[in-house]
Amino acid sequence: MPRRVDTVPAERFARAALDGLIALARRYAHPVVGLPTGKTPVGLYGELGQLAAQGQADVRTWRPFAIDEYVGMPNHPCSNRSYFSRHWNPISGAATVAQFDPEAADLEAEATAFARRLAGAGGLDIAVLGIGLNGHLAFNEPGSARNSTARIVTLHSESRASAEACWGDDTPTRGLTLGLAELLAAPSVLLLANGAAKAGIVARALRGPISADCPASFLQEHPDVTVVLDEAAAAG
Ligand code: PGA
Repeated sequence: MPRRVDTVPAERFARAALDGLIALARRYAHPVVGLPTGKTPVGLYGELGQLAAQGQADVRTWRPFAIDEYVGMPNHPCSNRSYFSRHWNPISGAATVAQFDPEAADLEAEATAFARRLAGAGGLDIAVLGIGLNGHLAFNEPGSARNSTARIVTLHSESRASAEACWGDDTPTRGLTLGLAELLAAPSVLLLANGAAKAGIVARALRGPISADCPASFLQEHPDVTVVLDEAAAAG
């Protein structure tokens, strides 16, 4: 079970997520940090940028890795690459995020190469994770095995529906993702969820049966998970 669950009012969610991340990062001299995209961590990155600008947070030693990417145009405004350009790159002192190349000729080889690059950095120290409405972690959709590794995947309909809000007619059907093996090998995990829509899946992930039907349920077996929820996401 998670080591710790913090439930905070919605207006404190981003700051609580950031406090959680900074506390974990202090454990490592050069933390290798897996970073999520999506709506959930936008406030976290914004707050981190503010603290870094004020000299109150120092991310210069952090080694960031994206945890997934859409197979689509990398410069599309809805790609994860563009997301990090908007939300991560402005953070003072932040290193460039290592990312999948969704235009690689051989995507399976690209996934393997990315995993090798991560392994070369020592693997993740901290996995920062959002949770999909279907229980996915990164693009490890329902049905993903606990020992799955970095690979190319077909996006489930729920993930495509979320993506469609941004991508519209260009919504990708596939993604590149770190596997559950690489994510859960991180000695520290920070799981973030906010909003009422996540209440059901958060409860299922943290209290329901441990099963590939809900990949986030494998977090119950991880020895060091910090969960930060707003009150709406904690309602279940
Ligand atoms: P969201 O995505 O932050 O946009 O809700 C979370 C996820 O799909 O992992």
